[in-house]
Amino acid sequence: MTISDCLRRVALITLTVLAMASAGAMATTSAAPSDPMLIPAPVSMQRLPGSFLVDPATQIVVLDPQARAAAEQFAAFVARTHRLQLKLREAEGANKGAIHFRIDPKAIGTAPESYTLEIDPQRAIVSARDPRGLLYGAVTLWQLLPPGDARSLSLPALRIDDTPRFAWRGLMLDSARHFQTVDQIKQMLDAMALHKLNTFHWHLTDDQGWRIEIKQYPKLTEVGGCRIPAGDGGLDAAGKPKPYCGYYTQEQIRDVVRYAAALHITIVPEIDVPGHATAAITAYPQLGVLDTPLVVSNEWGVNTNLFNVEESTFVFLENVLGEVVALFPGAYVHVGGDEAVKDQWKASARVQERIRELGVKDEAGMQSYLIKRLEKYLVAKHRRLIGWDEILEGGLPEEATVMSWRGIEGGIEAANQGHDVVMSPSSELYFDYLQTDSANEPPGRPATIPLKQVYAFEPVPAALAADKRSHILGLQANVWTEHMRTFARVQHAVFPRIAALAETAWSPAQKKNWDGFVARLPAQLQRYQAMGIGYAQTPFEVRSTLVEDRKRNRAEVSLSNSLGYPDIRYTTDGSEPSAGSTAYKGPFSLALPAELRAAVFVDGKPLTQAATRKLDAASLLSRSDEELAMCTGALMLRLEDDGPADGERAIFNADIFNPCWEWKAADLDGIASIEVRAGRMPYYFQLAHDEPARKFKPAASANGELEIRAGCDGAALATVPLPAAPDADGFITLKAPLEATTGAQNLCIFFTGDTRPAMWVLDRVTLHPK
Ligand code: ACM
Repeated sequence: MTISDCLRRVALITLTVLAMASAGAMATTSAAPSDPMLIPAPVSMQRLPGSFLVDPATQIVVLDPQARAAAEQFAAFVARTHRLQLKLREAEGANKGAIHFRIDPKAIGTAPESYTLEIDPQRAIVSARDPRGLLYGAVTLWQLLPPGDARSLSLPALRIDDTPRFAWRGLMLDSARHFQTVDQIKQMLDAMALHKLNTFHWHLTDDQGWRIEIKQYPKLTEVGGCRIPAGDGGLDAAGKPKPYCGYYTQEQIRDVVRYAAALHITIVPEIDVPGHATAAITAYPQLGVLDTPLVVSNEWGVNTNLFNVEESTFVFLENVLGEVVALFPGAYVHVGGDEAVKDQWKASARVQERIRELGVKDEAGMQSYLIKRLEKYLVAKHRRLIGWDEILEGGLPEEATVMSWRGIEGGIEAANQGHDVVMSPSSELYFDYLQTDSANEPPGRPATIPLKQVYAFEPVPAALAADKRSHILGLQANVWTEHMRTFARVQHAVFPRIAALAETAWSPAQKKNWDGFVARLPAQLQRYQAMGIGYAQTPFEVRSTLVEDRKRNRAEVSLSNSLGYPDIRYTTDGSEPSAGSTAYKGPFSLALPAELRAAVFVDGKPLTQAATRKLDAASLLSRSDEELAMCTGALMLRLEDDGPADGERAIFNADIFNPCWEWKAADLDGIASIEVRAGRMPYYFQLAHDEPARKFKPAASANGELEIRAGCDGAALATVPLPAAPDADGFITLKAPLEATTGAQNLCIFFTGDTRPAMWVLDRVTLHPK
């Protein structure tokens, strides 16, 4: 057999079994009573004989008024997830048959977030030195309840002594790129508390929107709170501009702060300077460097607009921070500092004059001057400044805390300089990055950061000297929302990865155990369901890899699950797999046509709704963009189409530096023609200094061409002129003959012509036999 014969016979393709995402489809798994499924894992847990029954008659007894809030939270969780209305009363002593919450003066030596939980057949007692510890005890107690709304729930007898590893257990949400309602923010805060997280970093200002009411500067929200989305999404049915707006009033912010405080969550507000400032400068042009007016940006990436460095702008920023500290009582205020490319400052004679006037060395020194000035202001208000790791450049303010996002190096450098650090590296803790390579992932940024990678992250670098390690306050996951038009997408990004973050943030390093975490995860998914949290199903999907044999109309099928759950059951006739269906033992040969359905089973129940995939002669001849490789893969994004303004939109995998797709080893024997379906999107990316990396082949005709080559540097197999615009549905379908070509070829598919102001994106490619 020749190599090309081999390639033809064994065209390896990886395709995703389409999982029907449905949060309601999770089935019940019963936790073994000897193995409580707690996330995060507690410091110490000792099982004791027997169990304590909770039923509608069980009372919650508060022994101290300070214990009341945690007891009420517990009752609220139980009412919500188990439909059990437990009564609260204040009483003396540890009465039998009740759940007790008490502030324990003997626990005075413990940390305020520590708690003890004792359950025996007579009673359950949550005790802590401080209401914070009591809340975490309440969460653990709630997690111990078996799922479901049975009338009688059995708690295992045990003793837990628990305390967090890190003081900063954070989640950042970007409310600037896409806006979340107050109710949605509260849902996120609830979920944070249930993961024992305590710091909510609220990204409130950016190029694409200013989201916090500032009384002295109403245009920040009136003007800066609205943008016209790019492309069709920015037009109403009549074709008129349709702005995307949103901001939080100060009253709403006070409400959110109160809500968070009840959950012992501190909010760290972020006002980003000197970059990410387009919305503010649009509202008040005198704050900017350029004379030309701006618009609130509808493009993602790195905008080059910076605040200017006039004294009046510094006063503006101080006035804004003045209102911010009046709203947020927490110790920290975040001032951004990230991605402030200095082109405008370099080009501005006035900024250069200010650099000389203020006696700073250069533009980095100018940024450092600004950050130091803001720190002085914040310190006078008894607050601490925190910023992204770029605030190291040009010199850190004396007391600044650094949030390390460009890897952990900035964090190491800051800790070595004696500064506190929060680790938040984009490589491990950016939850807007995709979590699997499933075709069911919503839009997002690769690289892929799967659950295991989040779990594996260690915030205290081995490279850091022992005497510097206490500077690592903790860790934080960040959710940037460029690609999250809906709250469902935010939830998909956050859950279940937040569970992995929580275990690193809370549990002792030596207690962490990936296999144990994966085993406890199904119970956590049940809690998510009970709380109405729309977690990502993609990590739990069954994936299929095919070795296709078109000539024999068969495929060899391999099934897997990204988390390695061992029990995969499948059917091939389209029927619903059950615990009695064929167990997957290894690759199997399948005659086509067939309808493959598969799911992971835990304790005899499917972990998600079964994934379905139809395989037939036609499906072997067709690939969606998700099933193709990127030719160079410089910056692949999973992009949402720009329209329609409301409702479902197509999603495309595209490399925005070089939109080009590759079908590796496509079997062209007997193929007569090729068909390409493509969409068109505005090129809404600001690339700043990366602009030269944007590649495209010049167009030979007015609107450019679709080109298909045998290998990207190989011969052209087809060239088809492109129309000026897509059809009414936003797509085009182009066909071309492929008569002279045989054998396995790496089909390279791209569109010539400038990708600005709009680019063609591949949706599907199909081969048609002779
Ligand atoms: C960042 O991701 N620009 C902090």
